[in-house]
Amino acid sequence: MATERTFSIIKPDATRRNLTGAINAVFEKNGLRIVAQKRIQMSQAQAETFYGVHHERPFFKDLVSFMVSGPVVVQVLEGDNAVAKNRELMGATNPANAAEGTIRKLFAESIEANSVHGSDSPENAATEIAYFFAGSEIVG
Ligand code: TYD
Repeated sequence: MATERTFSIIKPDATRRNLTGAINAVFEKNGLRIVAQKRIQMSQAQAETFYGVHHERPFFKDLVSFMVSGPVVVQVLEGDNAVAKNRELMGATNPANAAEGTIRKLFAESIEANSVHGSDSPENAATEIAYFFAGSEIVG
């Protein structure tokens, strides 16, 4: 299996409830290493660009407002098949459909306030990592 990196965000609903450590524990227990991490307040422009692919969707405006409603923790996770592994640990977008034991089943409040973001492909992971981190901030 290939060692890979993925991009993760612990979203404002989770930082507000002091769940950063609990979520990181799920990553670490399941073989993902946190090789970069910082707590930031995302700007409106950053959130709009980050979720640009959803620009035409009805939930776009609310999603951007939610993402700037409080601090987030942006992260780079490393491990075997990290992109797919993280998607599995996160669970379905809507917590009502998320499998038992997944982060969204355990912690998410709603389809919008769903606690975590994770890249959906290695290509998007590379783009998203570069959007938030300088190479020197990632220490494997
Ligand atoms: P998406 O990329 O479909 O899901 P995922 O985060 O699982 O990759 O959607 C991005 C985010 O948009 C999602 O995490 C929460 C928000 N969202 C809504 O608020 N309402 C919706 O109906 C959908 C599909 C997504």
